[in-house]
Amino acid sequence: MHYKELAPFPEGFLWGASTSAYQAEGAWNEDGKSPSIIDNYQHPKEYADFKVASDHYHRYKEDIRLFAEMGLKAYRFSIAWTRIIPDGTGEVNQAGIAHYQDVIRECRNYQIEPIVTMYHFDLPYCLEEKGGWNNRETIDAFVAYARVLFTSFGSQVKYWLTINEQNTMILHPGAIGLPENGVLPSKKELYQQNHHMMLAQAKTMKLCHELCPDSQIGPALNLTAMYAESCKPEDAIAAHNWEVLRCWNFADVPVFGRYHSLAWRYLEDREIAPEVYAGDSDILAGAKPDFIAMNYYSTATIAASQGNPSDVSPRAGDQQIMLGETGVYRAAENPFVSKTKYGWVIDPAGFRYTLRKVYERYHLPILITENGIGAPDVLENGAVHDDYRIDFIRQHLHAMRLAITDGVEMLGYCPWAALDVVSTHQGYEKRYGFIYIDRDEFELKEMSRIKKDSFFWYQNVIKENGASL
Ligand code: BG6
Repeated sequence: MHYKELAPFPEGFLWGASTSAYQAEGAWNEDGKSPSIIDNYQHPKEYADFKVASDHYHRYKEDIRLFAEMGLKAYRFSIAWTRIIPDGTGEVNQAGIAHYQDVIRECRNYQIEPIVTMYHFDLPYCLEEKGGWNNRETIDAFVAYARVLFTSFGSQVKYWLTINEQNTMILHPGAIGLPENGVLPSKKELYQQNHHMMLAQAKTMKLCHELCPDSQIGPALNLTAMYAESCKPEDAIAAHNWEVLRCWNFADVPVFGRYHSLAWRYLEDREIAPEVYAGDSDILAGAKPDFIAMNYYSTATIAASQGNPSDVSPRAGDQQIMLGETGVYRAAENPFVSKTKYGWVIDPAGFRYTLRKVYERYHLPILITENGIGAPDVLENGAVHDDYRIDFIRQHLHAMRLAITDGVEMLGYCPWAALDVVSTHQGYEKRYGFIYIDRDEFELKEMSRIKKDSFFWYQNVIKENGASL
């Protein structure tokens, strides 16, 4: 739809940027922190591990000062459960509380709104040894951890995110990491884990509303609209299958308090439906998020399944992510979009399309908690000319402005990433930040902070509240 005039970005729009604890902090075993599952995953030899990462744990003051200079109104980061309750349950580690109190205070000193993710892939390893999310007791452990966060930081944190990309953890567990024995959980186990996470999330949202009536809380999912490869009806049905199984089934449960009917039929038919206890439905129906947080990188294009194993194939440029499912859908190419060096589709118009779909489905304000382009940035004479990142973000912000004009209610935009961090499974040279960290895959160097061209560009966008986008 074309308009005579575009709507402006709303007053108080949260112009921000994101990181996660394990990808930014380092200090993996300091001040009482216990190992998380990430610390114990098999690590590919060709990539940096997470032990030092971007040393944000020690340098957060310098980093937050730079965020303030960039003009950020919000900083989305995650708290490491392993710093707060190293045994997963029980005793609280005061050093962990003090650290995040300082981080939050530092943000507030610069009028930066802290947006806190409670759990970004890094389950305490000691809980994993007891079955992790397969074990129903992890639900209570999570809720007890959430209670500590709400009582310690609740008065200072207005926006909480429960679980980052639950759908990625369930659908593509290999992208987060491989356990020591190299064996990923079965689909049956994964959907049981999913059910337990849904219950933990519902209880946590309810607790947040009880303990922190001035705060808001929501899930942070990776959401994307799907295109059918052709106008063949079977392609459209396959695209719908995957959109439901990848997106709506994960967002419907927190918002509507029930599973998507098509997704549930799929789970029953494949005999992978979770065991549901009496009372679970009431728990799920008893809580509702205040907003939807959403990570958006790419769209996908889908063709009808051919009903055989050739439906499954690795994503281009990324052998760790398998796409397609026999009898459900098949990944197809989209000739109308470009791709990043790592094979991720670049689709700003698809961003607008996805925002429209999410808003018309849930009618909740949307907070973008990730969006960005991974690239092997080059430091030349003290500068990083990342014009491709500026282009990427400009186009996505323009698409977002169109979506706002379409009537979509947007809370803010926190692209990935505030500074360079270690990629989930592709090392340090795949960079996303506005701030370059001077380290290599293995050589840590001084780790000085260098403002990329995109830093100055984003600073200007924020100053003019996106008026020229
Ligand atoms: C999201 C995750 O899936 O994508 C982030 O929430 C991650 O943790 C980001 O870093 C980019 O993915 P990658 O694999 O390029 O680091």
